[in-house]
Amino acid sequence: MSSIKPIQLELPKIFVCTNFRSGVHSSCAARGSKDIFKQLNALAKERSDDIVVEQIVCLGRCENGPNVRIAGHEIINSVSIDDLPSILDAVLAAGNK
Ligand code: FES
Repeated sequence: MSSIKPIQLELPKIFVCTNFRSGVHSSCAARGSKDIFKQLNALAKERSDDIVVEQIVCLGRCENGPNVRIAGHEIINSVSIDDLPSILDAVLAAGNK
């Protein structure tokens, strides 16, 4: 009998910074990232049950927001609603390799 233990593979994750900061410092939420999170979450569910979209507090690039990170990859800056299909395409393509 095999001694290999069961493994659990992580689902692809996309993090959207939804941090809000009032005052002179910019933040992703002040630039519309909460709408980006909602839209990305809805589009991801339409396309695959295997993509997890989560909110995150800050990715440290506040002046370039809205910011999104695909787990294990670079931060994507200045994300707009128009960018979301391409982000999902990239995640799904990576999962098929
Ligand atoms: S507020 Fe989004 S990266 Fe800091």
